Amino acid sequence: MKLIETNDVTITTVVDNYSDALLKPTEGVERYGANRDPLLAEHGLSMHIRFAAVGREILLDTGFTKVALPHNLSRLEIDPANVDQVVISHGHRDHTTGLTEFLRMARKTIPVVVHPDAFLERWFLYADGSRMGPWLENAQEWEQAGAQIVCVEEPYELLPGCLATGPVPRRTDFEKGTAHRYYRKAGEMIHDPVNDDQGIVVNVKGKGLVIISGCAHAGIVNTVLYAQEITGVREVHAVIGGFHLLDAPANVERTIAELKRIGPTLVVPAHCTGFLALRRLAVEMPNEFVLSAVGTKLLF
Ligand SMILES: [Fe+2]
Ligand SMILES: [Fe+2]
Repeated sequence: MKLIETNDVTITTVVDNYSDALLKPTEGVERYGANRDPLLAEHGLSMHIRFAAVGREILLDTGFTKVALPHNLSRLEIDPANVDQVVISHGHRDHTTGLTEFLRMARKTIPVVVHPDAFLERWFLYADGSRMGPWLENAQEWEQAGAQIVCVEEPYELLPGCLATGPVPRRTDFEKGTAHRYYRKAGEMIHDPVNDDQGIVVNVKGKGLVIISGCAHAGIVNTVLYAQEITGVREVHAVIGGFHLLDAPANVERTIAELKRIGPTLVVPAHCTGFLALRRLAVEMPNEFVLSAVGTKLLF
């Protein structure tokens, strides 16, 4: 069965790695501009999705600090109290740190859609022997701030025409994740495939799928293929979000070839896509490529 269509969807980049006040608007893409109180960028992601036809709002992820998200939300005139659902793409701090602050600002209980693995005790063990961690989300702290945690392990309907993907099956032969991610369980370090990784997919009337990833640790191509499968819709209109190619440079050309084959109208790589992939996507898909920056609004 096909996912129902929706329309009048606006996606605003609230937090991203990149800021550029001088970007010019293009068709369907509004820019924040320089003549306003500036926005903040940081190594993190937060995207706001407004469904004007049904008066609903969703926030995907919450950035790396408690600073950028509240600052940018107020400049972008997005009121946390109007947000109906939060989706956490995965339990990495650059997507979760602003959550409690956001919930406090909303002053209400908000469903927070998340896979249970987001609460693993995470470590990053690098080849040179250095390590980073633990990264550990505190579910109680989220709940105290106003989260009603909704644990998902499969596709989840956020509203008619819009799904959280749940965990993304790893099907391509090249998107293998990275070696340095681990979680600790019962004193043991176990390789972490980041099974909590999920995105959001919207079926926009007359256009097709708009797919938004957090980090795409499952692989951006896997994410798109799975979005097509769970929605029953083949047409892909836009692929937006972190493509996580910054530590997988060998995957850049294959990813671009697969994206060309899929044929979206818009490609908006953000956050952890990495400079090499951004540069190559801009060269190889010049008509589809949109440079992501804080304050960018995509109108569908
Ligand atoms: Fe990330
Ligand atoms: Fe991540």
